Amino acid sequence: MKTLIIYYSFTSNNELLARDIQEKLDCDMARIEEEKKRTGFTIFMDIFFKRKPRIKQLHVFLNDYDNFIFIAPIWAGKIASPLRSFLVLEKDNISRYSFITICGGVPGQKEKITGELTKLVRKSPQNVTELWINDLLPKEKKDTVKYTTAYRIKQADLDAFNHEVYEFLKESEALEYHQ
Ligand SMILES: Cc1cc2nc3c(=O)[nH]c(=O)nc-3n(C[C@H](O)[C@H](O)[C@H](O)COP(=O)(O)O)c2cc1C
Repeated sequence: MKTLIIYYSFTSNNELLARDIQEKLDCDMARIEEEKKRTGFTIFMDIFFKRKPRIKQLHVFLNDYDNFIFIAPIWAGKIASPLRSFLVLEKDNISRYSFITICGGVPGQKEKITGELTKLVRKSPQNVTELWINDLLPKEKKDTVKYTTAYRIKQADLDAFNHEVYEFLKESEALEYHQ
């Protein structure tokens, strides 16, 4: 039984989370990279035109693993498009999987993400967890897109999310496999 972390991150928040989880599990990890340079503008273009950007081939053999942890930001209520591209390409090679994200935080979003994943991979995730930047912000900055999107995660923030991350790992069964 082997877990593989596959992540995409544009501004490093989800990369820090991926590294934190990789350290906890001591498992393999792969980063999704795009063929073209990503900009804030192309995020909106992908959202508007529902584009799936071209991604570089990962140098891992997915069939060596039977538990996947996907990590990526949420853009406009959807999983960031580079991970969407990956899931569509590789759905037949994905067995058990879970998804975790550091995102701004919007009520009701988790159900939509779960539905989106199920549609893309054609099977339901074991677990979907959102870690909300909104929960880290002081009162006067909460619920404001300007502050949630500009926020960059620090180690202390990961410490604050530690309990939720462990709950996620338990439910994704990655911890059991690891032991
Ligand atoms: C264009 C854009 C749209 C976003 N839309 C959402 C959203 O709908 N819901 C949400 O919770 N967070 C949203 N976010 C916040 C990101 O998910 C958050 O900043 C994330 O931590 C960025 O991850 P990264 O640093 O790994 O790229 C959005 C960010 C950007 C830039």
